[in-house]
Amino acid sequence: MCGIIGFAGKEMQVAPILLDGLERMEYRGYDSAGIAVRSGERRLQVKKAKGRLQVLLDLTHGGADLEGTLGIGHTRWATHGEPNDANAHPHISENGSIALVHNGIIENYLDIKEHLVKLGVHFTSDTDSEVVAQLLEYHYNECRNMLEAVGRVLRRIEGSYAFGIICSDYPNALIAARKDSPLILGRGENGNFIASDVTAIIKHTRDVIYMDDGEIAVVTAESVDVFDDELIPVHKKHHKVDWDVSAAEKGGYAHFMFKEILEQPEAIQKTVSPRIRNGRVVLDDIKLTAEYAGEISHIYMVACGSAYHAGVVGKYVWERLLRRPVEVVLASEFRYSQPLVDEHTLVITISQSGETLDTMAALREAKRLGGRTLAICNVVGSSIAREADDVLYTWAGPEIAVATSKGYSTQLAALDLVGLYLADLLGTIEPAEYNAILAELQALPEKMRRYLADYESTQYFASRYFNHSSVFFIGRNLDYAMGLEGSLKLKEISYIHSEAYASGELKHGTISLIEPGTLVVALGTYGPLFDKAMSNVVEVKARGAEVLAVTTEAFREKMEKTADAVISVPETHPVLQPSLGIVPLQLFAYYVALQRGCDIDKPRNLAKSVTVE
Ligand code: F6R
Repeated sequence: MCGIIGFAGKEMQVAPILLDGLERMEYRGYDSAGIAVRSGERRLQVKKAKGRLQVLLDLTHGGADLEGTLGIGHTRWATHGEPNDANAHPHISENGSIALVHNGIIENYLDIKEHLVKLGVHFTSDTDSEVVAQLLEYHYNECRNMLEAVGRVLRRIEGSYAFGIICSDYPNALIAARKDSPLILGRGENGNFIASDVTAIIKHTRDVIYMDDGEIAVVTAESVDVFDDELIPVHKKHHKVDWDVSAAEKGGYAHFMFKEILEQPEAIQKTVSPRIRNGRVVLDDIKLTAEYAGEISHIYMVACGSAYHAGVVGKYVWERLLRRPVEVVLASEFRYSQPLVDEHTLVITISQSGETLDTMAALREAKRLGGRTLAICNVVGSSIAREADDVLYTWAGPEIAVATSKGYSTQLAALDLVGLYLADLLGTIEPAEYNAILAELQALPEKMRRYLADYESTQYFASRYFNHSSVFFIGRNLDYAMGLEGSLKLKEISYIHSEAYASGELKHGTISLIEPGTLVVALGTYGPLFDKAMSNVVEVKARGAEVLAVTTEAFREKMEKTADAVISVPETHPVLQPSLGIVPLQLFAYYVALQRGCDIDKPRNLAKSVTVE
């Protein structure tokens, strides 16, 4: 949600580097974009424009119009003020000496703005971020030391932020600061970086430093220095990113989402294989003891969006394996619901990005109440990963498309692993069941590849049904949980209204919406309840619905007798079936969106990594 970048270069022109970085981070926001470059003679040159990055690229001739080796850039997902040129970042202080980019929300900006207006400051935008640029100029005029001025500003503002700042008096340095919004520092051969995300700078360096809340960094072409909120130097650890630029590029595919759907078998393999040794799940990364596991009385799974949907699958699986109550709660609700957490409560937070603000806040609330936290997370060094008591990484690699696919499926795999691990510790699973699930978990990538080798029918059905204006996904138990994600995929990238219902609930109200021609996606992959799923198909057919069914190869024939169209996936252990069943739903959504001419990787109004509340 908003991407920021900054570069202090030795000799290289900064503008093309900033623009390239912004292009790689455009999934974080794409309402407007802008860059500021310090050119010779203490001048700050700013170019910004409403719309996609391409507008800015055209405006600056790919950056050729701005000369200089020090600069900052921003791609915006609007919170305060409509997406227009004036509200685009960077924001410039009134005398033109300071430029600032910001990701986050300044909660007390109106009070500060009022104060500055009384002092005669003129504002040119509606944003909370411009207030910080103006406040910075005010404090800089007082102390004439940029680091000190930033320190003073940070003490006055409330909210979340990652800032990149340049000042006309400082020809070689940019300043960065963070609290509750992601920010990394990168050390490259030709200069040093700040960025919201590794993807923006991976082309130039894999040597990164993760900034912590309250820290301020001064970055020049030769040095990277970090200070705490008292401006005392802090020694920071360097990390080597273990993937390279090709992982964050489309590699010949039309869309990142398509590429990422196809990458799922490998992502699951990477997540699962290293954690299975001699027929057992071994989680070296987790410090949970058998003694603690025995004392767990309650488990929460807390997350947002698709990660929440992974939690809904997790709940069905874990309750079966652990015989403990598992509650799945939306992170945005959890934090304000006075959750019943104590030292016997295990709180699982699930987040691909590791930066989702609500999930982060829920994690902190759980810790504050004395619960034990375990994060399932894809981004190494992200805030959630660093703050949880334990973290289990999903090794999906960078996910660029706004709509998650491999992020979600590796979350399912991680939940299966931890579920088996805990069930084993607790002795709540029969050895035969444990072995059967484990064997099938290892076989998942191969079975997924089998479906992915022949998915033309899914593409065909998408072209048959893409004109429907409303779709219902129905299923029971794990099929219902999977349907929640299938429905979200369709609505977010194709803009078709869709809802997921537990099939048994239909006749309690929603069935009144079924009329001749209504498209129902009926999910019948969960073996134990297949016959009941069939009855629901018959029910909606009787009301004239057009039924596209997703089932397993074993049930295909039966399903074909009633449904209008059938997609089948290989069979696996029932608790793992959503990992296979979700793939055709992702591809169906993808091809429907393609037919409708939607911007698949960057759906309207959305952004990846939601770092505001
Ligand atoms: C939907 C999607 C979102 C995310 C949600 C949580 O395709 O990607 O619903 O799942 O914003 O994001 P993370 O997992 O990064 O916390």
